[in-house]
Amino acid sequence: MSKEDDRSLRFYNEVLGLDHLHYGMWEEDEELTLANLKIAQLRYEDFLIEKLPTETSKVLDVGCGTSAMIKRMLSMEMEVHGLSPDATQKDNFTKNLNAPFYHCRFEELESEETFDCLVMSESAQYIPFDRLFENAKRSLKPGGHLMICDYFVLDDATGVLAKSGHKLSAFMAESEKQGFMLVEKCDVTDSISKTLDLASLLANRILKGLDILSERTRNKHPLFTRFVFRLFRKKWKKLERDSVLLDSEQFKAKKRYLFLLFKVS
Ligand SMILES: C[S@@+](CC[C@H](N)C(=O)[O-])C[C@H]1O[C@@H](n2cnc3c(N)ncnc32)[C@H](O)[C@@H]1O
Repeated sequence: MSKEDDRSLRFYNEVLGLDHLHYGMWEEDEELTLANLKIAQLRYEDFLIEKLPTETSKVLDVGCGTSAMIKRMLSMEMEVHGLSPDATQKDNFTKNLNAPFYHCRFEELESEETFDCLVMSESAQYIPFDRLFENAKRSLKPGGHLMICDYFVLDDATGVLAKSGHKLSAFMAESEKQGFMLVEKCDVTDSISKTLDLASLLANRILKGLDILSERTRNKHPLFTRFVFRLFRKKWKKLERDSVLLDSEQFKAKKRYLFLLFKVS
């Protein structure tokens, strides 16, 4: 699902101060802190930059988020275009960068421009995959590359965790059907999963903080507190159900976070 003004992405950027909107790649012994998340996200960006095929000079960053990776590629003297359906991301991009920008979903892109490489850093999951490969084929120069780094759902996975991300085997089958050759694949599930451990830690701290702050009100106004609790019961239950989304062991059991590099034939 794509959102034209995604508040959760704004929260990561404007409240948590994150320059990148993707998971981080963690070292095994790194402590779970926001500062280390920023380092882990930079490590993820470094990883993608290193994986750009050597002959790449013109790139489209599909779902470019805060444009952090675009700035990096522009500083490497590449021609880079950005794309995002998000209004805030469009404003940031057009205010700060002198480069072409497409304010639309990738599946709706109708430009005649063609690129050496399309980068989809955690944006492929939002694009219906038949349209993703169809439009990638039209947007790539002959022999161009499609770089994807994102999570995918394993075939036998069920439950709330199986609801976001493309089914891995169907996605790979579609890539072959549409003439894309897989030239590199890395499974980075283990190194990114600590991002969920940090998110879970922060969520628990926030809940504990709310518990402490509301203690006096609960003691002084028990009836009022019960009323408020009843009012938000459904939301509370949903929060409890969704807490599994931050469970890194469940994530590892049901999903794979993959780097995929395809070449169009
Ligand atoms: C999780 S963020 C990742 C942002 C950035 N690529 C990064 O790695 O930090 C997902 C991005 O995909 C964009 N997006 C959502 N739906 C999209 C679609 N249908 N086509 C292209 N981009 C989309 C969002 O606006 C956002 O920029």
